[in-house]
Amino acid sequence: MTMQRFEGKVAFITGAASGIGRATAERLAREGASLFLCDVQQEGLEATVKQCHELGAEAEGQRCDVGEAPDIVASVDACIKRFGGIDILVNVAGILTLERTETASLETWERILRINLTGTFLLCQAALASLLERRGNIVNISSTSALAGMPYAAAYGASKGGILAFTRTLAVEYGKQGLRANAICPGSIKTPMTGRSGLPDNPDISLLQRAMALDEPRGPETVAAVIAMVASDDGAHINGESIRVDGGTLA
Ligand SMILES: NC(=O)c1ccc[n+]([C@@H]2O[C@H](COP(=O)([O-])OP(=O)(O)OC[C@H]3O[C@@H](n4cnc5c(N)ncnc54)[C@H](O)[C@@H]3O)[C@@H](O)[C@H]2O)c1
Repeated sequence: MTMQRFEGKVAFITGAASGIGRATAERLAREGASLFLCDVQQEGLEATVKQCHELGAEAEGQRCDVGEAPDIVASVDACIKRFGGIDILVNVAGILTLERTETASLETWERILRINLTGTFLLCQAALASLLERRGNIVNISSTSALAGMPYAAAYGASKGGILAFTRTLAVEYGKQGLRANAICPGSIKTPMTGRSGLPDNPDISLLQRAMALDEPRGPETVAAVIAMVASDDGAHINGESIRVDGGTLA
């Protein structure tokens, strides 16, 4: 039997229609959490909600574009209205575009920063009052690209590095009030994102090899398990930390 580490807890998860976000929703559902799930992909989101219901959890989905501040405020309000508050915020929503830095467009740069980094900031800000009230915690999804250079990923790497720095700010600014904030740095996880990201023309394959797991890529449930540990009381003394879940890529 799985331990019910999240009985009576409310988790708010972005990017819940797919990959790591969906796996996290399912993991927390199995462990007793109530879930408020957001994404821009309506169909995938509904499938995750259905799956959580089948696992016996209370779950609600709401379309929310984390690049849009009004969507974020509306979703946080809806979660508090439905469940009374937020104990755990997991910022998973993110996008990846690979292009050569010399021809990267300002538009792509700003879009990636807006969704990955600004979206994470806005959600944390909107949820802070409730998280502080309930001595909750935040788990932000960064990436190995924040720790070691990722070729063709200027904006993405910068957004994920920003998430790490922002997470540490939250940890020291609110730690004394009982709020924890941590980051997870996945790498080499098999999800739709890694399948669709593509590459620029004639990429230098030798540059890409540094981003490969030591043995093999693994699925999003391997990240969800670590998110669950950090978000639960098992992670009570972990604050301002980042944890690599990358199959040894950067070991
Ligand atoms: N897969 C990996 O190897 C890997 C490695 C490092 C970091 N990550 C990070 O993990 C997170 C999840 O990625 P994944 O691999 O599960 O990819 P994924 O594409 O399967 O999932 C990302 C989800 O975010 C949603 N999303 C995108 N833009 C959004 C927006 N504006 N508002 C709301 N939702 C939005 C997508 O619809 C999708 O459901 C991302 O932040 C990604 O950067 C993944």
